[in-house]
Amino acid sequence: MEKILNDVVVIDAVRTAFGRAGEKGIFWKTRADDLCVPLLKALIERNHPMQPNMVEDVIWGATNQMKEQGGTIGRSISMLADWGWDIPGCSIDRLCASGLTATGFGVSYIATGMADCLVTGGVEHMGHLPMGYMRDPHPRAEEVMGDASAFNMGMTAENIHDRFPEFTREMADAYAVLCQKKADRAIKAGKMKEMIIPIEIELVDGISIIADKDQPPRPDTSIEGLAELKTPFREENGRVTAGNASGLNDGAAAVLLMDAEKASELGLRPKMRWVASAVVAVDPRVMGIAPVPATEKVLKKAGLTMEDMDIIELNEAFAVQALYCLDRLGLKWDDPRVNIWGGSIAYGHPLASSGPRLVAFLMNIFKENPGARYGLTTMCVGRGQGYSVIWENLLGE
Ligand SMILES: CC(C)(COP(=O)(O)OP(=O)(O)OC[C@H]1O[C@@H](n2cnc3c(N)ncnc32)[C@H](O)[C@@H]1OP(=O)(O)O)[C@@H](O)C(=O)NCCC(=O)NCCS
Repeated sequence: MEKILNDVVVIDAVRTAFGRAGEKGIFWKTRADDLCVPLLKALIERNHPMQPNMVEDVIWGATNQMKEQGGTIGRSISMLADWGWDIPGCSIDRLCASGLTATGFGVSYIATGMADCLVTGGVEHMGHLPMGYMRDPHPRAEEVMGDASAFNMGMTAENIHDRFPEFTREMADAYAVLCQKKADRAIKAGKMKEMIIPIEIELVDGISIIADKDQPPRPDTSIEGLAELKTPFREENGRVTAGNASGLNDGAAAVLLMDAEKASELGLRPKMRWVASAVVAVDPRVMGIAPVPATEKVLKKAGLTMEDMDIIELNEAFAVQALYCLDRLGLKWDDPRVNIWGGSIAYGHPLASSGPRLVAFLMNIFKENPGARYGLTTMCVGRGQGYSVIWENLLGE
């Protein structure tokens, strides 16, 4: 029987600025849910004639679903946005890919006709809810995952260095420098302005500012500077540092998804069309390698090859896993299609928001590259998972 799916399109994708987690972070005095609300409002304001009552569900990623990220944040943020009681909502956890999974579930909803219009996204306030906060692992957890290193993402990156020693610290540092440079160029060229929704916040010292710029990028990053950094995950012979890893961050991102016919009815211009998604699982001790099988699987589903991917947004949890994935996907470490505006090593990786952040980057890069047809968003996930999605540029030639 022929499978008939509705075309699912992205109308818009936005995010907050990203902050550093902790007291030095711009969002130390801002709640996670208050990072999400302005994004919902912006998606309505930016996309006339959208109205809140057209949104049939808010599907929201959050890794640590407790305190301000608990209580089904996907349900509460629409009410906090003053959209009333009528918009359902839920919360999704697939660790780093929580937000990409929320978007993926949204896609399947619309594709199968269960809804016409959804908001999906994710938030992580790693300052208020640090990684592993209140975790209570099963006594057999280490045994079933291989060993204790599977619980510590930095150690999983060290494990990739161990298993694939062709990827050295020097290469990881060079990758990180390139990432920071690309991000700096993009920021200076104003590429973030369209996607960052400015929000008024209060800093630790009580001063109010408009948060409209990312805090984590370090444009002065140099090979020499990185070479001096300590290796916090392994004192001796370690290779992973604060400079070649993504950081601990706070931020949120959101996507407005629609059935293509509904978009046309409303006169809204779709920016990209969903093509295929795939999720896979691998050895948790080297979780960072998972974008490779996830991407191979999604390419097969789509009947496409890496050559067809004109833009590639790969979440950089760690430089070594990015190096591994690019190599095994047949790409050079500095392939010009990859993370054109830089990646998570520069901007930060507020876990559940990074998937929708990749979608926002891809959408905006598509806009500037009408010759590009297909794009890939892909990420690795703690405990050993990979999630890849292929999108088609609808702003193309
Ligand atoms: C690696 C890690 C432990 C470092 O934590 P941290 O020490 O709090 O990191 P910081 O960003 O504050 O950097 C510490 C210091 O390193 C130095 N540093 C960091 N990045 C640098 C760079 N690009 N160039 C030069 N120095 C740098 C600085 O001296 C910095 O101190 P400063 O902020 O006072 O200038 C932490 O970022 C981490 O755990 N990252 C991985 C997150 C993760 O696992 N995510 C999930 C992925 S699956």
